[in-house]
Amino acid sequence: METEKNTVFRRTRDFATVSLADAAETGSHAANTAVTDTEATSSRECSHKYLPSRRSAAVIAADRLSGGVYSVVLRDRYIAHHAHAGQFANLYLHDASRIMPRPLGVAAVGTEAGVNASEDDVRFIFAVVGEGTEQLSHVRPGDSIDVLGPLGNGFSLTPDGRYLLVGGGLGVPPLIRAAQEIRDLGASSTALFGYRDVHFADSIVSEFSGATLSIDESEGNVVTLLDRWAKESDDEEMRDIDILSCGPTPMMKAVAAWARDHGMGAQLSLEGRMGCGFGTCVACVTPTVTGLKKVCLDGPVFTTEQLNW
Ligand SMILES: Cc1cc2nc3c(=O)[nH]c(=O)nc-3n(C[C@H](O)[C@H](O)[C@H](O)COP(=O)(O)OP(=O)(O)OC[C@H]3O[C@@H](n4cnc5c(N)ncnc54)[C@H](O)[C@@H]3O)c2cc1C
Ligand code: FES
Repeated sequence: METEKNTVFRRTRDFATVSLADAAETGSHAANTAVTDTEATSSRECSHKYLPSRRSAAVIAADRLSGGVYSVVLRDRYIAHHAHAGQFANLYLHDASRIMPRPLGVAAVGTEAGVNASEDDVRFIFAVVGEGTEQLSHVRPGDSIDVLGPLGNGFSLTPDGRYLLVGGGLGVPPLIRAAQEIRDLGASSTALFGYRDVHFADSIVSEFSGATLSIDESEGNVVTLLDRWAKESDDEEMRDIDILSCGPTPMMKAVAAWARDHGMGAQLSLEGRMGCGFGTCVACVTPTVTGLKKVCLDGPVFTTEQLNW
């Protein structure tokens, strides 16, 4: 059965050939509505039309990165080959009393997802904040987890782009994938990360980003880092740089204001509370200039202009 399902696991360029009938046979569904199949460099438009159904993924590696922060590598060929920076996956718990999935941003894909990872592997990094993530922190290699994804619309990236990745706390993992994808496009990025205490992602993102600067609460926050970075940067050049940001809402509002004051564009990945993760429960709406939008389906990435922040 798994082999049949894998018939939809094609590279992006082949995917437009999957018909509705193919999708029905293989158990796929159109969970995402942004449907343009394209090899374009941009990731805001989903690169796939039909999404394979919820399925079981093997746990390849599970590690603790710092106090309450964990890394899990799953083998899921579809996510590994299709997830763009800023997209997320639903992870389902084996606990019947917790049926809602936990959305986690894709942190890295392929052989760079972890030690001994294969090109079909995908990494997630998460902090334990409640019962669900507590349960996820106990998974071990050889276990399996049900997944659905990749979901949502990610960051818009271009090969000639220059990007500043501004992340705080749990917003850091999706920006690691952004650094990986930007590197793959031949573009450049600088990571500015703010942590509560342990700088758990610096060495991971440094494999992909041109430079990494980080700070923890004892020294300041990401705006402190942005100010430091701006002092060293050329005013004219700064306007050609796009900020990609993910983190707590107050932090992203501060980043959006900073970007506006410095004449820079910003794309923000919202971490709104979710239910289904694919557009049916309406638990995740956020106001935008064109009305209420679903963070899971229309986002999670929005521009500052869309949000009017
Ligand atoms: C697009 C997106 C990407 C994310 N990526 C990451 C990541 O890479 N790493 C990471 O550590 N965390 C990430 N989060 C936050 C993560 O989903 C929550 O921390 C997690 O769902 C909490 O589950 P819990 O059972 O431990 O907490 P509880 O508070 O017990 O959760 C109860 C319910 O609320 C939902 N919920 C709680 N907090 C959030 C939240 N912040 N966002 C969405 N749903 C929430 C849970 O899914 C669950 O259904 C992301 C959230 C979103 C929306
Ligand atoms: S989480 Fe259900 S509609 Fe967005």
